[in-house]
Amino acid sequence: MIILKTWKAGDIKRGTRVLLRIDANVDLVRGRAVIGKHDKIAKALPEILKLQARGAAIIIMTHLGRPRGKQTEFSVAPIAKAMGKALGTKIAVAEDVVGKDALRLASTIKPGQIIMLENLRFDKREEANDETLAELLASFGDVYVNNAFGVCHRAHASVAAITKFLPSFAGGLLVEEVKQLSAPMKKPFVLIVGGNKLETKVPLLSTLGVKADLVIVGSGLLPAFKKGRLSTEAKTVIDLLGDRLRLPLDTRVNQKGSVIDLGRATEQILPTWLRGAKTIVWNGPVGLVEERAGAAGTKALMKAIVGVHGARSIVGGGSTVALVENSTFASKFTLLSTGGGAMLEFLSGAKMPGLEGLRG
Ligand code: 3PG
Repeated sequence: MIILKTWKAGDIKRGTRVLLRIDANVDLVRGRAVIGKHDKIAKALPEILKLQARGAAIIIMTHLGRPRGKQTEFSVAPIAKAMGKALGTKIAVAEDVVGKDALRLASTIKPGQIIMLENLRFDKREEANDETLAELLASFGDVYVNNAFGVCHRAHASVAAITKFLPSFAGGLLVEEVKQLSAPMKKPFVLIVGGNKLETKVPLLSTLGVKADLVIVGSGLLPAFKKGRLSTEAKTVIDLLGDRLRLPLDTRVNQKGSVIDLGRATEQILPTWLRGAKTIVWNGPVGLVEERAGAAGTKALMKAIVGVHGARSIVGGGSTVALVENSTFASKFTLLSTGGGAMLEFLSGAKMPGLEGLRG
């Protein structure tokens, strides 16, 4: 198991400026951030309270979505508002990432106060893992704490490069995720991958998929497997997995003829595909759950997973966890991970750039 460096009382005292990376990348609902009981924002709060209790001055950093430069609809202000409400404190948001306003707030922050920098991805150097940006961010703090498991698979400035410039530690949530996901994956192991980030998910089917006894693919990934239009990655997946790959038997389509969900026959066969599994890992809805008619397959899948007796069930990914939370099945899952892509990458054994600089 990867051992991560954690902070001790001596590392954080009254007035220590803590640069805290969290993953508060959630879908806004009509411009508001809603904090679910088990979601990644809720799980980020205890560490903040712990740091506050030490008298730290906390500078929160997160990204939100995948903006192209500064797009105001991706501002983190709604996140700060919701978190401030949950913590019973006001969280001031800098108008920029490392500009004048960020500097003004970071240089006047008092012990116990919390501020948030604007969406890290407003600065294109973030995703380039740029050291100049990392150094500028680091200049705001005395120590760096990474509590953002969900983004540790990204080599980004606030996740990877920054560890070169400050004493760096893993937060409690990050340590716990790594611990839970390091438990042996008992076989038979069934992997279920939905969602529609084709470009990131399909390659993962070959790296993590080869460890699985069965791999079930959701309807959103089907375009990659379309006969006659098979992508190179999909071909690799098919060759590697052979008859362990389960594509939907049938699908539901909407009025425009687009695939929106698994069909009835697939729903009915799910319990058979999952039967006897000792580990089930699931990421991504198997249908277009935003459309009412596209949610049935995902509901059937949840029911089938929690119906497998004695299986360790791990679900990850913002929208997937939110769906589970809003169902009656939440307490029946073994682990609701805060990582989506990160969880899959970690389980595949890939090197995680965000963990490298935190090794103990
Ligand atoms: C997530 O929601 O999975 C993480 O915040 C990472 O987001 P990304 O896929 O846009 O890098």
